[in-house]
Amino acid sequence: MGIIKALKLGFDYLKYDDDGNVESTQRAVDDVNLDIEAGEFIAILGHNGSGKSTLAKHMNALLLPSEGTLWVDNMDTASEADTWKIRQKAGMVFQNPDNQIIATVVEEDVGFGPENMGIPTADIWTRVDDALQKVGMTTYRHHSPNKLSGGQKQRVAIAGVMAMRPSCIVLDEPTAMLDPNGRKEVIKAVHELNKTENVTVILITHYMEEVIDADRVYVMDSGKVVMQGTPKEIFSRVEELKHYRLDVPQVTLLAHELKKNGLDIPDGILTTEELVSVLCR
Ligand SMILES: Nc1ncnc2c1ncn2[C@@H]1O[C@H](COP(=O)(O)OP(=O)(O)O)[C@@H](O)[C@H]1O
Ligand SMILES: [Mg+2]
Repeated sequence: MGIIKALKLGFDYLKYDDDGNVESTQRAVDDVNLDIEAGEFIAILGHNGSGKSTLAKHMNALLLPSEGTLWVDNMDTASEADTWKIRQKAGMVFQNPDNQIIATVVEEDVGFGPENMGIPTADIWTRVDDALQKVGMTTYRHHSPNKLSGGQKQRVAIAGVMAMRPSCIVLDEPTAMLDPNGRKEVIKAVHELNKTENVTVILITHYMEEVIDADRVYVMDSGKVVMQGTPKEIFSRVEELKHYRLDVPQVTLLAHELKKNGLDIPDGILTTEELVSVLCR
């Protein structure tokens, strides 16, 4: 079984009236099936409100299913006895780094997670050293997080998660508040962690260029997984993506339009180099 598996997962947000009775329900995740293997790099796409964050919060047992089951490394998230272990297995990174960084010195912030886990002090420092090095933030270890750029802050937040030695990191739009340079830094660091540490990555993003190097992509709409496949397979289906109100990488769109106009170009072109080589045949 994969490291993250969902079977017929459903989640309703409940709205209560003044007497505490359920007034209405809002289905946010609907009949979702996932099977994610350890070490995979997964991207999740979907228009605002499609249920991505709700799904992500299930992977960390921040939300529990209304229907169906979600397992993290064979642990059913609904089993409260495992909640703590699940949160260590699957670390979360959110959009705003300022809400995730709590200490006044970088290295202390990164050490906070393992300290909370009851790791002996000497081991905490080993973990902090490792984690900072992995995200390329070692030189900033004595700095105040306030003075860092957005991309650097987000890498510190990722180091804080890595210091807990998770098998899986779930990043919910980690680059949404960053400038292009910060976005690149963060995505590069995450790919590096995926390669060298074999950590499973689940990346929710609106930036198409952050998706093209994923192993697999899930597309969500109205709480459901409506498309899945490799980036090439997904971006071959331009009209469908437009239907789900999603962008397509610019070069993919250009290739698609050229093809519609009669040029002999394959579907799912993801990079400028690919398009150039096809056009120069
Ligand atoms: N705390 C909440 N209470 C009620 N409804 C919510 C809450 N959070 C999200 N929703 C609703 O659930 C649906 C999915 O939201 P969300 O998971 O945040 O989507 P996404 O991350 O794809 O933008 C939306 O219709 C949203 O309005
Ligand atoms: Mg969201």
